[in-house]
Amino acid sequence: MAIHRSAIITTRSARETARLGHFLAGSLRSRHVIALIGGLGSGKTILTQAIARYLGVRRPVKSPTFVLIASHTATRTGVSTLFHVDCYRVRRLTGSDRAAIMEAIEMPHSVTLIEWADRIPSVLAHVPQRRLSTISIAVAGTHARRLSVTGALTGSARKWATAHPSSVPVPAVQPVICSPGRRRPCAHS
Ligand SMILES: Nc1ncnc2c1ncn2[C@@H]1O[C@H](COP(=O)(O)OP(=O)(O)OP(=O)(O)O)[C@@H](O)[C@H]1O
Ligand SMILES: [Mg+2]
Repeated sequence: MAIHRSAIITTRSARETARLGHFLAGSLRSRHVIALIGGLGSGKTILTQAIARYLGVRRPVKSPTFVLIASHTATRTGVSTLFHVDCYRVRRLTGSDRAAIMEAIEMPHSVTLIEWADRIPSVLAHVPQRRLSTISIAVAGTHARRLSVTGALTGSARKWATAHPSSVPVPAVQPVICSPGRRRPCAHS
């Protein structure tokens, strides 16, 4: 999988974020890790639920909150377990919590999604880049979310952006500078 720097996508409804999650899930392989970063209610669980659906998880997927890791049976070829980690309550990672997350990440035929992943940078540092994606979500309005995808899923996110031009932020218009007396239309530099 080609690794690009980042892709930025705006979604305008929870359903659209779910569609994006479903699309990105198609590129997941065994032992992929998705680090989800974003405040309360930004859409991390909406994205997780869509990925879980794609992977064939039948049980409802909610923010685990009071358990660090929830494990779900998945039925997609090559992926038999989805680990859903929620680090909201993590202040200082204990040795046993750290070991449990590492064990999930390293389990063959698994995909691990981590909400509040910015709270465990030392764990993420151990994940090889080719297996790691980060999705940072910012609330950009009541129903708008700005998602920045970096790492292994960036190429897929770019494909989504190409197919959904309205999800891509419009670049600021460059000012046109004309010299006085010029008759022909000015070209943008
Ligand atoms: N474009 C959007 N994408 C995702 N969710 C949206 C969007 N617009 C509105 N929402 C709403 O925002 C909420 C996102 O909730 P969700 O549980 O996914 O957030 P979260 O990031 O997991 O929060 P928490 O950290 O509390 O677990 C939902 O109520 C959803 O309907
Ligand atoms: Mg959540």
